[in-house]
Amino acid sequence: MRISVIGTGYLGAVHAACMAELGHDVLGVDTDAGKIAALTEGRAPFYEPGLPEILVSAVASGKLRFTTSLADAAAFADVHFICVGTPQLAGSLGADLSHIEAVIDGLAAHLTADCLVVGKSTVPVGTAPRLAARLATLTAEGVTANLAWNPEFLREAFAVQDTLRPDRLVVGVTSAEDDAVLRRVYAPILASGTPYISTDLATAELIKVAANAFLATKISFINAVADVCEAAGADVVTLADALGHDSRIGRRFLNAGLGFGGGCLPKDVRAFVARAAELGAADSVQFLRQVDEFNDSRRHRAVSMARDLVGGTFAGQNVAVLGAAFKPETDDIRDSPALSVASTIHSEGATVRIHDPRASDNARQAHPEMEYTDTPEKACEGADLVLHLTEWSDYREIDPASLLAVVRTPRVLDGRNALPRAQWKAAGWTVRSMGVAVPA
Ligand code: UGA
Repeated sequence: MRISVIGTGYLGAVHAACMAELGHDVLGVDTDAGKIAALTEGRAPFYEPGLPEILVSAVASGKLRFTTSLADAAAFADVHFICVGTPQLAGSLGADLSHIEAVIDGLAAHLTADCLVVGKSTVPVGTAPRLAARLATLTAEGVTANLAWNPEFLREAFAVQDTLRPDRLVVGVTSAEDDAVLRRVYAPILASGTPYISTDLATAELIKVAANAFLATKISFINAVADVCEAAGADVVTLADALGHDSRIGRRFLNAGLGFGGGCLPKDVRAFVARAAELGAADSVQFLRQVDEFNDSRRHRAVSMARDLVGGTFAGQNVAVLGAAFKPETDDIRDSPALSVASTIHSEGATVRIHDPRASDNARQAHPEMEYTDTPEKACEGADLVLHLTEWSDYREIDPASLLAVVRTPRVLDGRNALPRAQWKAAGWTVRSMGVAVPA
């Protein structure tokens, strides 16, 4: 099929490459000429494991091309996927839909044949019917452009596998014909038995938002229990392992520590709260405000634990920070808990030296006031405290005994409960972990 993918940010670039991988002829569209130039050469503008390989091969085979012209996209494709961002609106909890509206307006102006427009971006429930009406008004006489919603559940760092082998496909459609088109788009995935949920537009929009709100709630739940563990002399990691054996609960997303960040969970929880309030259901989702606020408090909690470890003030202290990305295996620093903690500690007078295997360049751009190193050891030279804030596997492999030789004082705060605690202790380190009581 001939498919256009509009917006080549994170979601769009992955979706475009994966659609080509499924055998479709794909045109990726973006207003950012720099991004389009890089993608045309098969270069991804961000780090995502597995993406460069399928991008290069799709571009080389001619299955995937890129353009900055919506007119080209309109002339080329039968199915248009909208993958532009829906960030948090400045000064509000709600989502900024201006990019998506601009795409609808731009595309509609150029359409000369019937087609299906499919939203993939995360939007407040009720957005799709409004956009469908806008599309219908703006398209030329005699042209029918239907709108469907097909939310994406991909995780950064696993985006390619999540797109090609998803847990489920969800489509919100208004006709059997549109459903049939989407079944054809995803035919190779459906052939492997992937569950396919075809529903109305509102349910499809809400499934995505509810999924992210649930994941956020699960993380804040375990972090709340972590506080109680610390107060009661217990260990949240063992507790989470035990809870996880209950298949109704499951172990995933029960990792206690610094909490959630990134470009999705925080803003999606807030947008859900804002939209529910517009719909008159504010009280029902009131707890999600607490989920969000409690999540934010984890960063302050980490700063205060770190301050206690260095004797009450950061002035004159050297602090090594391991990890800047919002989670491992990405160079994404959007709303990164690690960077937020690092920058607060820096603002309180510490010299902060940061290492991250992939995200240092992005972090340096956002926070040039802090220092960046190319090895964890260099970040730790002369440190009074080591903070482990993003759980890259590299950090689990650090030999605590050899690191002891480079620091000034062997103290470590594990903000992700991912370091082999016993090993660090045995090597002579003072170890603090979020949710693990200090032994009496
Ligand atoms: C999230 C969802 O997991 C995806 O399903 C969804 O498609 C995506 O948002 C989106 O809306 O586009 P992502 O933002 O890539 O994916 O990251 P997650 O893996 O969900 O992690 C989010 C944050 O939660 C990270 O900061 C991570 O460190 C933190 N986290 C995760 C925890 O603190 N504890 C955990 O147990 C798990």
